[in-house]
Amino acid sequence: MQFIDLLSQKDRIRAALLHRIEGILDRGQFIMGPEVTELESRLASYVGSQHCISCSSGTDALLMPLLAKGVGPGDAVLTTPFTFVATAEVISLAGATPVFVDVKPDTFNMDPDLVGYAIDDAVQRGLKPKALIPVDLFGLPADYDRIVAVADAYRLWILEDAAQSFGGSYKERKAGSFGLVGATSFFPAKPLGCYGDGGAIFTDDSDLDMLLRSIRVHGSGADKYSNDRIGINGRLDSIQAAVLLEKLTIFDDELAARQRIAESYTRRLHCRVVVPRIPEHYRSAWAQYSVLASSAEEREQFIDALQKEGVPTMIYYKTPLHLQKAYDFLGYKAGDFPVSEELSSRIFSLPMHPYLKEEEIEQICSVLLRT
Ligand SMILES: Cc1ncc(COP(=O)(O)O)c(C=O)c1O
Repeated sequence: MQFIDLLSQKDRIRAALLHRIEGILDRGQFIMGPEVTELESRLASYVGSQHCISCSSGTDALLMPLLAKGVGPGDAVLTTPFTFVATAEVISLAGATPVFVDVKPDTFNMDPDLVGYAIDDAVQRGLKPKALIPVDLFGLPADYDRIVAVADAYRLWILEDAAQSFGGSYKERKAGSFGLVGATSFFPAKPLGCYGDGGAIFTDDSDLDMLLRSIRVHGSGADKYSNDRIGINGRLDSIQAAVLLEKLTIFDDELAARQRIAESYTRRLHCRVVVPRIPEHYRSAWAQYSVLASSAEEREQFIDALQKEGVPTMIYYKTPLHLQKAYDFLGYKAGDFPVSEELSSRIFSLPMHPYLKEEEIEQICSVLLRT
């Protein structure tokens, strides 16, 4: 059994994708070809934002807005410690300091009630709080009603880390559209993934759009060889754009399948483990289906029993970022973010992809129910 099955998906798009790739080979425009422009306009309308800037990875999609907004040394950017390292890493790469805010125990997303404490913490460290990076963990958008209110109160701008939530939504709004700017990832294992690295940035701010397009190509000015600012090589290549265009044609169907699979897991497992809670009016993109065991020991028993039956599992995330060696220099200690620490000791993720069969779900659940 696969944790994520990309091969069944490939069979659905293979012929059309090969046709597109052949066109790219014949035209020879491998970087920023017409596929990239077509993809950006499709993605912008999907998310409902004015601008989409495609780029080389989800990490660069997070980094570039920080560079564009001039975030740097002496600035604090608030995010959660219960996320993939890239979320905090980009803050450090920009020269600023990550200041962590713990997550809510039920949604695993940033707790808006704790933002004020993190602001005080940042100020005590002599930092200027500038921005917030809420993460839409496992595909579920964060609590933007309250996060936006708190960000406005403290005059922070929001960079939504929608790396895992492309396709998710809250009320009528799609993930990627909640902040001043949103960033997503097209890493192959993501709900919408390409066949390599890729990412995209979304914004309604036209000035920011222009700056991001410049930063994406080494800070280019009027032409490629005039450089107005410091940038990066952050472009998406034409073949990855072609892959994404083809995958977009089946994406809503795949999202519906993920939703069905999540419901099927929840129906069977809610009496044995803590299943994901999706608050009213939210839709998750189900990048992961993550459950909580009652203890670290029980998690080990579940994982061992599943492994014996050939069922792969993953632990996202075993160590919260404030306890990672790379962030020793921030001076955090165990106990500082109790919810993230508790989740790290009990969480594990089950296979989740649109091609998971009902009998596979049945098998996975029966192992958990009898363990
Ligand atoms: C929450 C989160 N942020 C950022 C990233 C970085 O994306 P990428 O791997 O495309 O650089 C990821 C992807 O792994 C992620 O899960």
